[in-house]
Amino acid sequence: MSWLFSFIWSSLGRKLLMALTGFCFCMFLVMHLFGNLMLYGGRDAFNGYAEKLHQLGVLVTVFELGLLTFGIIHVLTGSILFYQNFAARPVRYAVRASGGGQTLGSATMPYTGFLVLVFVVFHLIDFHFADRTNATIYDIVSTAFHDPFHLATYIFVMIVVAVHVSHGFWSAFQTFGLNHVKYMPLIKGLSLAFAFVVGLGFGFIPIYIALFRGQ
Ligand code: HEM
Repeated sequence: MSWLFSFIWSSLGRKLLMALTGFCFCMFLVMHLFGNLMLYGGRDAFNGYAEKLHQLGVLVTVFELGLLTFGIIHVLTGSILFYQNFAARPVRYAVRASGGGQTLGSATMPYTGFLVLVFVVFHLIDFHFADRTNATIYDIVSTAFHDPFHLATYIFVMIVVAVHVSHGFWSAFQTFGLNHVKYMPLIKGLSLAFAFVVGLGFGFIPIYIALFRGQ
């Protein structure tokens, strides 16, 4: 068993864990986006969907615990990676030269990651743990998006999420060894397309509710 822990603690093991948990989060984002599309159907459609989901009972709890565990692993391994990269830099340059091949996504990974983490905490307080005794989940979401601060924050964070996954998706493929030069353009294109779908898919929902749905 100790070989397993040694492997997980090795730098390759940590990178694999990071990629695996990140990839699972991408899958979660796809499912979450599909569910959120129900908001376009209005109050009954979204509330009906949320009720059906919660009727799954213990399955939802297991799923949430899995998500939480993956979240902790992803944040911890990411933080260790960030610290190691920071500590390994021999000289702290006053002016940062933009390294060849760097993209906005790769250069900002730790910062966008941190912002997404802060967002998720507030997002869960806002929606997941919201008091539903006098309001349905649709009303809670709708009220939030009619508030200009919430609206602006969500639109901004959805762009941040898109930038984060644009590099994360590509990087996970690389870590899994699928980085053959022949497939690189395809994988890069896929990552950008995924980031676009996530950013636009999630980002347009608050705009639509604020503009076209009454409170
Ligand atoms: C327009 C964008 C979004 C909307 C309208 C939205 C809406 C919601 C709602 C209503 C819930 C509560 C579901 C329930 O408990 O019945 C929820 C949960 C959650 N959301 Fe979002 N969400 C959005 C974007 C995101 C993004 C970008 C992330 C991740 C980066 C995210 C992560 C989560 C997580 C982790 C949960 C808890 C899942 C669970 O308990 O099973 N959401 N969201």
